[in-house]
Amino acid sequence: TGHITLDDGYANTGSCTSSVTFLDGDNGILRYRGYPIEELAAGCDFIEVAHLLIYGELPNAKQLEDFKNSIRRHTMIHEEMRAFYNGFPRDAHPMAILSSVVSALSTFYQDSLDPIDPRQVEVSIHRLLAKLPTIAAYSYKKSAGQPFIYPQNDLSYCENFLQMMFAVPCEPYEIDADAVAALNLLLIVHADHEQNCSTSTVRMVGSSNANLFASISAGISALWGPLHGGANEAVVLMLERIIQEGGDVSKFVNMAKDKKSNFRLMGFGHRVYKNFDPRCKIIKQACDKLLAKLSVSDPLFDVAQQLEQVALSDEYFIERKLYPNVDFYSGVIYRALGIPVQMFTVLFAMGRLPGWIAHWVEMHRSPTKRIYRPRQIYTGPTQRKFQPIEKR
Ligand code: CMC
Repeated sequence: TGHITLDDGYANTGSCTSSVTFLDGDNGILRYRGYPIEELAAGCDFIEVAHLLIYGELPNAKQLEDFKNSIRRHTMIHEEMRAFYNGFPRDAHPMAILSSVVSALSTFYQDSLDPIDPRQVEVSIHRLLAKLPTIAAYSYKKSAGQPFIYPQNDLSYCENFLQMMFAVPCEPYEIDADAVAALNLLLIVHADHEQNCSTSTVRMVGSSNANLFASISAGISALWGPLHGGANEAVVLMLERIIQEGGDVSKFVNMAKDKKSNFRLMGFGHRVYKNFDPRCKIIKQACDKLLAKLSVSDPLFDVAQQLEQVALSDEYFIERKLYPNVDFYSGVIYRALGIPVQMFTVLFAMGRLPGWIAHWVEMHRSPTKRIYRPRQIYTGPTQRKFQPIEKR
């Protein structure tokens, strides 16, 4: 096997060519289809960004309206799918529910499973974009023991999600414009990040010609891990723990430096960013603004800033170029919006969905497309003599 090169974690292996997202880790640059993330985050609606990622261009007004209208037609989930939620335990993690129910979409929408038929792919894309917020909000309603709130199609994507999350039938719910803007921004900065673990998973599963729902469900499972999207939940649990244990951030920084502790600073470090994570910058600014506007102070935000300061002046973190990543401050915003901690990674999934779809489509359209099938370097025993069971 001399001709096989080993590259643990694929740190230096390009798995594909892609025109979706440009990332320069040394200079902290992130662009979707050539547009800087800062400009998209400042001036776009999430659905515009979804259109950009999936179809390659920002939509004009007519294209955007058509896209939104088509998505609106699919916001409800099949009434029988609601029965799934009865079967899950009340304390089920919403990421587990999300990946299961998305996988189950392939049982209800069998008319859009063919990955080679462009018309079927198009319908399944619209179904997914439309239904993911509904599936996500229902997973929260299930855990809260509250009735499901149906989607309402005169609302925008983000308004609709907040309404399905927080409205209850017994009293009026007023959608807060600042909350909508903050959610919109968070979804945009999460929308794509080239060949990360979950996106590579979606491409890999899709490369076998598995249907889009199955591929996205696999991506959701990959995202759940605390080293990936699950970090946003882990950050808040870590910050809460720091406060509970007296607020000494240095103690936790030291623990993270100690390899024997098995503890890492959650929300710190990135495979590609070695200077700063531009998404983190945008989110931190939004955090500042939102907390000031809502006139709330969150002790977690204060601890997060202290932790950042101590870590960034520590030799260990400087040497290894470890900076706060996208997950470090996003949780503070989610908390300010009243979103429970178990739902944080679900919101990451809602944001990442257009990116996953864009890569799945790009993978299928590639003229050099073939099944993903990495090789290995075998380290097991050489040939052994078989022993029948009575002789073992
Ligand atoms: N705390 C303490 N040490 C760290 C951390 C951390 N958060 N991250 C990396 N290191 C150390 C690591 O121990 C290693 O040290 P040494 O060279 O002495 O062995 C060095 O830095 C390089 O780390 P690595 O694990 O080889 O880096 P990687 O590129 O394989 O992993 C990472 C990247 C993001 C998984 C990792 O930095 C990490 O575990 N961070 C914490 C979890 C997290 O915040 N994940 C979210 C990532 S961003 C959004 C997303 O992908 O979803």
